This record gives sequence, C-alpha cells and structure tokens, in this order.
Amino acid sequence: MSNFKSIAIDGPAGAGKSDVSDILAKKLGFIHVDTGALYRAVALYFLENNFDYKNQQIICENLNKILINMDFKDNSQLIYLNNIDVTEKIRIKEVANIASSISAFSCVRDFLLEIQKNTTKFNNIIMDGRDIATVVLPNADVKIFLTASLEERAKRRLKQLKEKNINCNYNEVLNLIKQRDNNDFHRKIAPLKPSQDSLIYDTTDKNINEVVEFLLIYIKEKINC
Ligand code: DC
Repeated sequence: MSNFKSIAIDGPAGAGKSDVSDILAKKLGFIHVDTGALYRAVALYFLENNFDYKNQQIICENLNKILINMDFKDNSQLIYLNNIDVTEKIRIKEVANIASSISAFSCVRDFLLEIQKNTTKFNNIIMDGRDIATVVLPNADVKIFLTASLEERAKRRLKQLKEKNINCNYNEVLNLIKQRDNNDFHRKIAPLKPSQDSLIYDTTDKNINEVVEFLLIYIKEKINC
C-alpha cells in the first residue's frame, strides 16, 4: 500500500473539477492528475489518424500504437502522445467528443488504468475524473463528487472556451455537455456515479473560492494535514 495521500474528485463535464483540483493541489502541495487529459490524448491519436472512433474493434486493435506519458512541471500536468507534447492540443471540442465516446470501451479504460494508479506510488495526489473513487482509487483518503446544474456547467465551459479563443455559442456547448453527460452517466463500464462514501457537493450557486474554501476544510479534517 502507498504511503502517499490520495484525493479523488469525480463529477460531470463542466462541474469545475479541474480548476478546483488545481487550486487545492497548490494549496496542499499535492500533484494534480487530470485523468480526462489521458482519455483526450487517446482520442487525439484516433482523430489525427482518421480512425472510425465509434468502431470498438478498430480502437481496441490500435491502442498498441499509442504511448502516453505524463510529466509535472511547476504543479502543471503535461501530456505526451507518442513523445509529443499535446497538452494544449487535446483541449479542442472535437477531441472532447471523441474522448467521451471511446471512454465507453473497456479496452481503453484498462489501457489507462495502470498509468493512473501508478501516479499514487510517488506523490501525494489529487486525481480528477469520472470513476476515480469507484474504480481507479477505491481506497482514496478523501472522495468528493462535484456537480452543478446542466445550464451552469454549460455557462462555465463556454467562458473557459472563450478565454482560450475557441469559437462557439451557448446552445452548442449546452448540447455537447448534454451528449457527454449521456455517454458518461449511462455507459455500461465504470459509469459516472458518486461512490457511497463520496461527499456530494453541488456548486451551482457557488463561486470557485467558496468551493475551494469549503473543500479545503473538509479535506484537512479527513487527512489531518
Ligand atoms: O474531464 P474531461 O472533459 O477532460 O474528460 C474527457 C472525457 O474523458 C469525458 O467525457 C469522459 C472521459 N473520462 C472518463 O471516462 N473517465 C475519467 N476518469 C476521465 C475522463
């Protein structure tokens, strides 16, 4: 068993997991592992190489062409796909949709499981994703399920995309999030759901500082740090 502490943060797209985890990690001196980035890197490979990403057999048969590595610099996670830094490239919306689709395939989930688990061996970590508390780190010291209304999540995601100069409108983002919720909550393997021992925290009416402040107290109580 690892001597390092681990915090699992799950929740649907746009709930603020990544931003909240980033700030919490900095405040606690932990490393933030964004597992969505791993699914996005796999998706990017299939997008760039024009594979039919809906075809499970094709996806599973070609995973052996993919090498994914993570690195952490100044607390920021860098993602490498076949030794190329794709940290920025994986943020486009086409990649998000393909990631949501291929994440339903068990071969993809198995392929990424070890990479995720290994990060707990050498660091105190905050890991965010969809199945962290239920599958990846069932023994995490703290488990949190962050959520917010669909409309609020779409608003937040639109703001993020605009900040990155990515062109889109509210209805488009709302529909994409709806579609991703549908995939994430209803897939057969490792569907998005809170584990029984997760704190479920609805952030709809809260700003990021309120969320961080509340969770920091909760985490410190749980892990005595
Ligand atoms: O968090 P994100 O939007 O970057 O994730 C992209 C997709 O990856 C998401 O729609 C579902 C999938 N994913 C997953 O299935 N399990 C995880 N632990 C993280 C992400």
